[in-house]
Amino acid sequence: MFDSGVGGLTVARSVLDQLPHEQVLYIGDTANGPYGPRDIAEVRSLALSIMDELVDRGVKLLVIACNTASAAVLHDARERYTLGRGVPVIEVIHPAARTAARVTRNGRVGLIATRGTVDSRAYDDALQAVPGVELFSQACPRFVELAERGVTTGAEVLDVAEEYLAPIKAAGVDTLILGCTHYPLLVGPISYVMGEDVPLVTSSDETAKDVYRALARKNLLRGSDAPEPRHDFRSTGDPEAFSVLARRFLGPEVAAVERIAFASSESGVRVVPSDVSPLPATLQGSA
Ligand code: DGL
Repeated sequence: MFDSGVGGLTVARSVLDQLPHEQVLYIGDTANGPYGPRDIAEVRSLALSIMDELVDRGVKLLVIACNTASAAVLHDARERYTLGRGVPVIEVIHPAARTAARVTRNGRVGLIATRGTVDSRAYDDALQAVPGVELFSQACPRFVELAERGVTTGAEVLDVAEEYLAPIKAAGVDTLILGCTHYPLLVGPISYVMGEDVPLVTSSDETAKDVYRALARKNLLRGSDAPEPRHDFRSTGDPEAFSVLARRFLGPEVAAVERIAFASSESGVRVVPSDVSPLPATLQGSA
């Protein structure tokens, strides 16, 4: 699993809760995050280099625990790893979109996400086939910065939440998708501002169900008689800072975090081989 930083830990938590015998190898790309403001081609390149690394380390399934990366790279990832190397790829956009479609009563669904995810229109595409659903999107870049600093409650978060969420509230949405895996870390203030009548939809639990389904279908579930699972959490940036937040957001499964290094280009953006196909016009269906 990977994310630009600590956000994907919200998905990792659900995976560990639903699949307690599985072993997680998680990379937080904190040296290159946030992904949200980056060009989509850069996010794609960063994501592919991480997934290359994970697949080379022998993972049996990949989870793109990041909406921005899911929007940027899902089609390529399925081609490169699922078709190319037999490794299923699970993402976080369709699980959240299908939950929102089930939950909404008035058909007015709000989306808060990174600039990259909003601009990709991946959620618009995912919800396009659902009759009567209208999407109201708002980019909330400062939420990621706050979560990465460990600031998840207090006046600063509340001020930012009130500012970002005002247009979404004014649109009369009755359901709000937290379309960035960092945002569940700020669920208290977001829910406070939206009010208790607006359910907040996150992708973590539904994504974990997709992980279960994909492993079960391929008969790849790790049995309860297997040795105690050993998880491995890595970051591309400062491992100490990452481990403090990872223990707080995920829990005691995070032991010592080691830094993971990649070869990088002069711009600091890692380069991956050029045998990847061009960006898709729309996202493909979920697993
Ligand atoms: N947590 C990520 C997402 O779901 C990325 C946030 C960022 O790096 O901007 O989009």
